[in-house]
Amino acid sequence: RLLFVDDCFTANGERAINVFKKLHRLYGYTEKVFIEARVTDILKNQILQNIPLQMVSSMQIGVECGYNEGLKKIRKGLTVEQLFSALEILKQYQFDKHCFLSFIIGFPWETMEMINKTLDTIELICTKYKIVCNLNWLLLLPSDLWWEKEDFNIHIEEDMFDNLLWYANSDYFFTTHPLISMEDIIQVEKRIGAMQRQGGTVAYRRRIGNEEDYIEPSACSE
Ligand SMILES: C[S@@+](CC[C@H](N)C(=O)[O-])C[C@H]1O[C@@H](n2cnc3c(N)ncnc32)[C@H](O)[C@@H]1O
Repeated sequence: RLLFVDDCFTANGERAINVFKKLHRLYGYTEKVFIEARVTDILKNQILQNIPLQMVSSMQIGVECGYNEGLKKIRKGLTVEQLFSALEILKQYQFDKHCFLSFIIGFPWETMEMINKTLDTIELICTKYKIVCNLNWLLLLPSDLWWEKEDFNIHIEEDMFDNLLWYANSDYFFTTHPLISMEDIIQVEKRIGAMQRQGGTVAYRRRIGNEEDYIEPSACSE
C-alpha cells in the first residue's frame, strides 16, 4: 500500500489524475493508495470521476467545522452546503466507503452551542451517508491561531511542549480550551456514545488522561 503524505494531493487535479494513471501503468490494481483530499477539490477538479476506486484504499478529507461561521473563521474556504454537494459526488462514485472525514471541536471561540452544531453535521452525515467521521479536540499548535491565543485568554508558552505527553495533559487541555469544562467533555462524549450505539460512523478517542498509553522511546526499540 502506498501512502501520500502530501496533505493537498488533490489541489492540482490534473497532476493527481496523472499520478494515478502512472501508478496504474506500473502496478495495475495491485497497489492501493492512501491520499488526502479537500472538499473544494472534489467539487472543482473532477478527481473522483477520473481515478479508479479500486486503487484507493482510503482517502482523508479534512472538514474541521460543521457550521459556516467556524469554517469562515478557520479560513477553510468551504461551506457546509459545499460539503454536502461533495458527499453526493462521493456517494455517486462509490467513494463513500473508501474515505473518512476529519472534524475538530474546541476552537478557542467555541461554546457548547457551536460544538453541538459540528456534532449535528456529523450526525447527519453518519445517518444519511454512513461515512466515517473522525472527531478530534483541537490541539493548539504553533499556527496563525497560536499567535492570536492571548485574544482568547489562552496563556501558554512553547515550553509546554517540553513535556512529551503534552497532548494528553489536562493542564494543557484546559489552558488551551478556556471555555470548555470537564462536564462539557462528558456531554460531548455522551452524545458521541449515543450516536455510536445507533450505528453512527463516528470515531473519537479522548486523549487527556491517557498519559498511561505513552510508550517510552527506549521501550519501542526493545
Ligand atoms: C493532516 S490533516 C490534513 C487535512 C486535509 N488534507 C486538508 O487539507 O483539509 C488531517 C486532519 O487532522 C486533524 N488535525 C490537524 N491538525 C489538528 C490539530 N492541531 N488539532 C486537532 N486535529 C487536527 C484535522 O481534522 C485534519 O483534517
